[in-house]
Amino acid sequence: MDDTTRRPTTAAETTEDAAAEPTLRPRRLDQYFGQDAVKDSLRISIAAAQGRDDPLDHILIYGPPGLGKTTLAMILAAEMGVQIRVTAGPAIERTGDLASMLTTLQTGDILFIDEVHRLPRVVEEMLYPAMEDYALDIILGTGPQARDVRLKLNRFTLIGATTRYAAISQPMRDRFGSTYRLDFYDEHALSQIVRRSSQVLHVEVDEDGVREIARRARGTARVANRLLRRLRDYAQVEGNGVITGPLAQAALDQLQIDALGLDAMDRELLRILIERFNGGPAGLETLAASVSEEADTIMDVYEPHLLKIGFLQRTPRGRVATRLAYDHLGITPPRLAAPSPQQPLFTADGIPDVDPTA
Ligand SMILES: Nc1ncnc2c1ncn2[C@@H]1O[C@H](COP(=O)(O)OP(=O)(O)OP(=O)(O)O)[C@@H](O)[C@H]1O
Ligand SMILES: [Mg+2]
Repeated sequence: MDDTTRRPTTAAETTEDAAAEPTLRPRRLDQYFGQDAVKDSLRISIAAAQGRDDPLDHILIYGPPGLGKTTLAMILAAEMGVQIRVTAGPAIERTGDLASMLTTLQTGDILFIDEVHRLPRVVEEMLYPAMEDYALDIILGTGPQARDVRLKLNRFTLIGATTRYAAISQPMRDRFGSTYRLDFYDEHALSQIVRRSSQVLHVEVDEDGVREIARRARGTARVANRLLRRLRDYAQVEGNGVITGPLAQAALDQLQIDALGLDAMDRELLRILIERFNGGPAGLETLAASVSEEADTIMDVYEPHLLKIGFLQRTPRGRVATRLAYDHLGITPPRLAAPSPQQPLFTADGIPDVDPTA
């Protein structure tokens, strides 16, 4: 069972997305919906750089998975009319890998490093002078013959993307000319994304269908597109090919995606937090072990949306389920239940681990 079968609303990229996304990726800024403040600011940067015939400043883009970081980097290359070279932090294992990439860039080209927080330390340090002075410091030869050589690079733009702003070192952050945070999309922007994608995929969706998908896409462009693809199949097999409101509702219910876009795994996470840990606080590691997931996955993929809709809070002592989460799951919060000495009210007593990342 792949991740989408288990979790149709995961924001993380699945193999199926990787195959389908390139066609759905908007190519220009005016097809990139929402994120208005980011776009306004980028438009100015693009116009200014073009006016001066300069490359763009180095840019750091961060935000939860599936909100459009990679897409934005590609769009910037298209808008600037330059080549983009795409790589990822963990893929650049040695300084030589970075050196060979940097030396092939033409003036103005973009080097896009995804998961930039996962660059090996030595590679990151080699990047500093490259970003600052367009220079590459390398050592030629070994032993007593070894000597430092400084190579001049073409003036390029580095675009870094990360889901973990906090994991980026200060010297690295300081070298980006601008930093943009992508936020979850509202229903309006998601509706625009769904309408555009439906045209690309040649599938008919009526306005109620669009709204239903947008509402349950948990603020994430990738999820909206994935739901659309799922519903297209459903409409083809179970309906007449058109995604209507009732059809979308029936299909999403069948996928166990509720009205707020929570799926079975989200609900299980909340239920365990509430039932096993009395609503919390529960440490990230403890919680992750209880739902058999990696702590990183909980933090990067599940939590952002649950935090955003106010179902979960991060406290210094761990994760806490809020009143809204109880209500959504139809569980009576302990404050309203008859007080019982066995059931502490939101206290951490007896819960051993303290969350290091909260
Ligand atoms: N603003 C947008 N307008 C239209 N479509 C978008 C927008 N943002 C993202 N998308 C769509 O969502 C999909 C996922 O976006 P993208 O791969 O850029 O996310 P990401 O932030 O890079 O995710 P990850 O953190 O997993 O790398 C893209 O294929 C694209 O079709
Ligand atoms: Mg990406």
